[in-house]
Amino acid sequence: MNEQVQPAGDPLFNPLAPDFIRDPYPHYDRLRRIDPIHVTPFGQFVASRHADVSLVMRDKRFGKDFVERTTRRYGPDIMNEPVFRSMGHWMLQADPPDHTRLRGLVVKAFTARRVEDMRPRIQEIVDQAIDAVIARGQMDLIEDFAFRLPVTVICEMLGIPEDHREVFYKSSRDGGRLLDPVPLSPQEIAQGNAANLMAQMYFQQLFELRRRNPGDDLITQLVQAEEDGNKLTNEELTANIILLFGAGHETTVNLIGNGLLALHRNPDQLALLKARPDLITNAIEEFLRYDSSVQMTGRVSLEEIEDLGGKRIPKGETVLCLLGSANRDPAVYPDRPDRLDITRSNVRPLSFGGGIHFCLGAQLARIEAEIAIATLLRRLPGLRIDEVENPEWRPTFVLRGLKRLPASW
Ligand code: HEM
Repeated sequence: MNEQVQPAGDPLFNPLAPDFIRDPYPHYDRLRRIDPIHVTPFGQFVASRHADVSLVMRDKRFGKDFVERTTRRYGPDIMNEPVFRSMGHWMLQADPPDHTRLRGLVVKAFTARRVEDMRPRIQEIVDQAIDAVIARGQMDLIEDFAFRLPVTVICEMLGIPEDHREVFYKSSRDGGRLLDPVPLSPQEIAQGNAANLMAQMYFQQLFELRRRNPGDDLITQLVQAEEDGNKLTNEELTANIILLFGAGHETTVNLIGNGLLALHRNPDQLALLKARPDLITNAIEEFLRYDSSVQMTGRVSLEEIEDLGGKRIPKGETVLCLLGSANRDPAVYPDRPDRLDITRSNVRPLSFGGGIHFCLGAQLARIEAEIAIATLLRRLPGLRIDEVENPEWRPTFVLRGLKRLPASW
């Protein structure tokens, strides 16, 4: 989930072109076959095969090197901009030892066990969302259904009081721009700064509240870690709360949205899942593989790499890892990788990344999507998506998802 330069005029990899956004998979297929470590006109290396993507994410010779990479692209003053300063403290952008320290402070809240315990509450939120629209006979599956679940869950985990949440429901779909493969314009940097400063002000007040009034939530836990000496600074605390808030919802909204679209484009699979609800866990892995809500992440070579897929990578270069392409590599999925098959065995998508940055919220996202989709199929069995063939995609590449998905029943 790194922001990168768009290789304009690059015939093989032009990820913001409308037909790429609509359907990136034929483009990936070409890359994998013709030029699996493709060099863009800007000198970035684009890895599209499963073996290379997987290696780059796990190999210690690659890292994030956020400050160096960002100053190289925007100039030396960029780290004075609040939004970039804040991102520089994200565990997602950090290398060890900072990464190890920051991740260690929150990892316990996301263990499989802790997340399993959240099932009844997730079920309740999903049921409430359906109760609110069932009499209407129609809804937007994104806005009315998929979106509120992950936002509510992350607000509850962080300990954001209920009467503060409306602003989060309203504003939280725009932050994805920070991850987009196009550099931010000065105006966008100014907007990012404003949003970041607002969030900082809000969270500072919440930290004060939790210092006086501790709760059973992540913010209380982190505020205590901050007070506990050298575990984390106030800037790191704020930045990583903002990261957790942002990383957890747009991705999950899109897993639910892309999964529902894929199912309705493949009526045989939809009918199968309705007949055999026990297939839901495998179906979620297949949705992650088939149309991942995160399409790309990146790494920087920390030393010269002599051979990656036949190319030499000098030290300090960016390698883009095309997760969505790796997920359809016939070398790993020989049985028609472009087909949605919820009974496919050995599905191990790279959609949650790999190596030390492997998604902290993977199990949470899986359970949210599982309960959301299974409940929708059970409670609204007659649901039809209005526009299955030409739905409206958000104009972003890294975060792949739909603007809206109107449905009726
Ligand atoms: C379908 C849903 C999701 C997808 C596809 C997804 C994808 C990813 C990917 C690909 C990475 C690794 C990036 C890299 O290696 O550079 C990542 C990291 C991360 N994700 Fe997720 N994510 C999802 C949901 C969530 C949720 C629900 C949360 C938390 C509530 C979350 C929190 C994080 C955090 C904190 C990191 C950084 C971990 C680190 O750097 O050690 N994600 N995610």
